[in-house]
Amino acid sequence: MPVKFDPSETTDHCLMHKPRARWQQKTYHPILWSDELQTWLVFNPELVKTILLSDDFQVGLSVQAVAEMEDRFRLDLSSLRHATAAMPVAHEGPAHAVIRRDMAQSLQENVEAALIAFSHTFAASINGPLQQQESFDINAAALAPATARLMSVVCGFELSPTGGETAPSQMLDRLLGLRRRKEINALIKGLFQRADAAADDTTADRKVAMAILGFDTLHATLSENLLAVLRRAEGIPLNQIDWPNEIEETGAPFIERIARKQTSIGEQEIKEGQAIRLFLDDLGPLGFRSTELFFGKGRHACIGRVISQRAWLAMVQQLNHVSHAVTIESVTERTPDFMFRFPSEIILKVNDGRHRA
Ligand code: HEM
Repeated sequence: MPVKFDPSETTDHCLMHKPRARWQQKTYHPILWSDELQTWLVFNPELVKTILLSDDFQVGLSVQAVAEMEDRFRLDLSSLRHATAAMPVAHEGPAHAVIRRDMAQSLQENVEAALIAFSHTFAASINGPLQQQESFDINAAALAPATARLMSVVCGFELSPTGGETAPSQMLDRLLGLRRRKEINALIKGLFQRADAAADDTTADRKVAMAILGFDTLHATLSENLLAVLRRAEGIPLNQIDWPNEIEETGAPFIERIARKQTSIGEQEIKEGQAIRLFLDDLGPLGFRSTELFFGKGRHACIGRVISQRAWLAMVQQLNHVSHAVTIESVTERTPDFMFRFPSEIILKVNDGRHRA
C-alpha cells in the first residue's frame, strides 16, 4: 500500500511553499502517494536523480493534452498550444533534441548582451531608493525591471515585469483550472503579438516559449536568493555581506514526469500513466539539500543555468558597492501560485550602514 501524506500537516498543493513541513512528520518516506494531487511525491534527491535519468519517465507537458482540452470544452487555447509545441520540455526523442538545440543556440547568441542590460538596469535603478534612505520594494524598483531587460534581450522582444495574480509561466502547472488556463492563453496571445512583430513564425514561437520558461524562473529564483541572504545578514552593510557565489535557493521547487510504463521507484510500484512530482530542494532528514538538482538533470536539464548564475553574480557585484544596511519590513509571496516560490514584493528599510552589534 502506498504511504499517504498526512493532510493535517499542510495541503499537498502547498507543500512546495513549506519545504520543511515535510520533515516535521515523525517518519520519513522518500516517496508518497498524494490523493489530493493524484500524483506521486518524491522527496529523496537520489530517487529524483534516478527518475530524471530514466527512460521509463517522460515529461508531463504535452501539446496533445492542450488539444484534447480544447476539443472537450470547446475552447480556443491556440496560443497556449503553440507555445507548448515550441517548448523542449514538452517533447521527447529526436523532436526534443532539435527544439532544445535551437533554443540553446538562440540563448547563447544573446547571453553577454543580456547580462550587460541586466547589470546596467539594476545599477541605475537601485541607487535612487538607497540614497533616499526610505522604505522601498527592491523587486519593483530594481530586480523586476533588470530581469525584464535581460529576458527582453534573450528573447528579442519587449517583456515587461510580470504583475498580477496570473502569469504565462503558470501554464506549467499541470493541475491548473480551466478559468486560469483561459486567462493564461490570453496573456500568451499578447506575448505572440509582440514577438510576431519582430520575427518569422518559428522564431516567434521559440521566443515566446523561452520567455515563458525563463522569465519567472529567473525572477523568482533571484528574488528568493536575495531574500535568503538579506534575512541572515539583516543590518549588515551590503558591501560587508558574505554573498554566496552561487544560488542557494530556487524559485522553481519541483518538476514532474509521467510513467511511460509500469515500474518501481524505491519500494513503490508506479503504474503506467501515473504522474510523479519531483521536489528539487527538499531538506532530507539529515538536513541535506542538493542544490545540484535546482536546474534539473539529464536530457531536460535547464539551458538557462549559466545565465542565471551569472545574473546572480551581476546583482551581487552591484550590491557589493553599497555601504548602506537594510532591514526587511515585509515580504509578499505571489499568490495563488502552485508552481513557483516567488517573493514578488520585498520591502526594505534603508539605514545608515552601521553594523549591528
Ligand atoms: C534565462 C533563464 C532561463 C531559461 C531561458 C530557461 C530555459 C529552460 C528550458 C528551455 C528548459 C527545458 C530544457 C529541455 O527540456 O531540454 C529548462 C529546464 C529547466 N529549468 Fe530553466 N531556464 C531559465 C532559468 C531557470 C532558473 C533560474 C531555474 C531555477 C533555478 C530553472 C530551472 C529549470 C529546471 C528545474 C528545468 C528542468 C525541467 C524538467 O526537467 O522538467 N531555469 N529551462
